[in-house]
Amino acid sequence: MSQALYRTWRPALWEEVVGQDHIVQTLQNAIAMNRIGHAYLFAGPRGTGKTTSARLLAKAANCLAEDSAKRPCNVCANCVAVNEGRFLDLIEIDAASNTSVDDVRELRDKINFAPSQGKYKVYIIDEVHMLSTSAFNALLKTLEEPPNHVIFILATTEIHKIPATVLSRCQRFEFRRIPAPIIVKKLQTLTKQENIDIEPEALNLIARQATGALRDAISLVDQLSSISKKVTLPIAQDLLGTATNQAVIDLTDAIIKQDQSRGLEIIQTALDSGADSRQFARQTVEYLRDLLIIKLGVGKQLELTPEVRDIMNQHAESMQTEQLTSIIEDFSKAATDQKTNWHPGLGLELAYASAISWQESAPVPQVQSIPQASYSAPAASYSSPASQIAQSPTVKSSPKVSPTPKPAQSKKPAPAKKTPPAQVQDMPNQTGAAEGKMELTSENLNAEMDKFKTAIKRGNSSTVGLINSARIYVPNNKTLVLNFATQILCDMMRDENNMKVMRIVVEYFFGKDIRIICNFGDYDYTEHANDSDEEESLLDAVAKRFNGVIIETGKED
Ligand SMILES: Nc1ncnc2c1ncn2[C@@H]1O[C@H](COP(=O)(O)OP(=O)(O)O)[C@@H](O)[C@H]1O
Ligand SMILES: [Mg+2]
Ligand SMILES: [Zn+2]
Repeated sequence: MSQALYRTWRPALWEEVVGQDHIVQTLQNAIAMNRIGHAYLFAGPRGTGKTTSARLLAKAANCLAEDSAKRPCNVCANCVAVNEGRFLDLIEIDAASNTSVDDVRELRDKINFAPSQGKYKVYIIDEVHMLSTSAFNALLKTLEEPPNHVIFILATTEIHKIPATVLSRCQRFEFRRIPAPIIVKKLQTLTKQENIDIEPEALNLIARQATGALRDAISLVDQLSSISKKVTLPIAQDLLGTATNQAVIDLTDAIIKQDQSRGLEIIQTALDSGADSRQFARQTVEYLRDLLIIKLGVGKQLELTPEVRDIMNQHAESMQTEQLTSIIEDFSKAATDQKTNWHPGLGLELAYASAISWQESAPVPQVQSIPQASYSAPAASYSSPASQIAQSPTVKSSPKVSPTPKPAQSKKPAPAKKTPPAQVQDMPNQTGAAEGKMELTSENLNAEMDKFKTAIKRGNSSTVGLINSARIYVPNNKTLVLNFATQILCDMMRDENNMKVMRIVVEYFFGKDIRIICNFGDYDYTEHANDSDEEESLLDAVAKRFNGVIIETGKED
């Protein structure tokens, strides 16, 4: 095979795009009616057809077919040129490698030239979330008044990283994960045409493993068919490593039961039967991550068989959110750690040992009372109870003492961990509140915390779970920081559905122009509270250090 299978199978016509009917329909209509927009944003998981659809749109916009409803025709000179990758007016930019403001300026200078071959110059900017802030600003200027002959198609897998100002100027299309049955159907056509001998059960397995990304599914077929003439289910299982799934489930069971010998036995058996220790650690991480998703109330999005869902629901029920994230971290270390390489099982065993001792060692929650002098030290431990609002150095309060540790064998969450938010202390605040709204201070927020959370819960019940696991800072009266213990939690919060609720509720309570910063890890916000130019320096620092996402209220279209 000279070319990767997924490339040779890139749809050349709208009809070949699957699983994105709502998008295809809308774009086809726009083309048929000659109402093509100037700025599009294609968002969604990788391998679901964003680049494919962007190229189809570019091709259709420049297609010479008489009947606009038949564009792209795939036979006219322009269509052929696009298909052969030599159409000069289709410019594809990978933002991941052209992130600077100069790159965008250069683009801006060039777009004023008329198209050389076609009717439109089409710019596809892939991974657009990778652009720097200044590059975004430069792009924004262009999006404000694009020349008539220009079409922008921005594509991203991480829509939450796109500034609201850019979002509001684009027609937005959200690509969905492609359901497994549709993937199977596509793979059937493909394997038949490519003369690939593959068992239907193997196709089912591949489709499930691809989790909605058709590209991944095609790549797996490609890989499997290159190692075996006939692809059977056992071969597919071997390569995809699903035979060890049961081991992961058993291991989780052992963690919950805190059964030391059972867990080590499971690990040993898996390794003895040929499992790769890191792969096993990775699978464990994936499984636990799914439990976390279930725990946060968004398990519906997981594609699971009813039996597995039952088991997972039980597992999720028996673990606490903080426990899960902590165990996930243990096992991701095992998946990447080089130090324990010399002993294949060691990383896993250490992770397991740490996982079952979590309840004993964990929460002696030291609260976030951090005297200014000593604040350069890392902030309080993240096993501290959820939803306490960290206080500033300006306030004197003694550390709260942890709730009584609970017995090691208990499987139920310690009640103390659900402690409602502690009192809030805030930073010096400068100006007054926005008209008619409450000023954003930690005191005000603290006083309204119950109502605040109820409002969030009404918007989305899983969002409030995340908020409960965050530390909340109010470094100044325009900024609210949600600081998470781990990246996993932070990424979940960054999900658009959660952010939207948050934005609306914050705006409702505190007015417009409040920045909500979502990040993870230790960070000394108080250090920046008194800077003269405090907003900028805070935001810059966060963006640099923690890849923080900044959401602003009142900025959505
Ligand atoms: N919705 C889809 N319909 C048909 N093929 C698809 C679809 N999504 C992905 N593919 C297949 O996967 C390959 C990569 O898709 P691509 O459009 O580059 O994904 P994305 O840009 O969303 O990451 C395509 O060449 C095609 O083979
Ligand atoms: Mg792409
Ligand atoms: Zn054409």
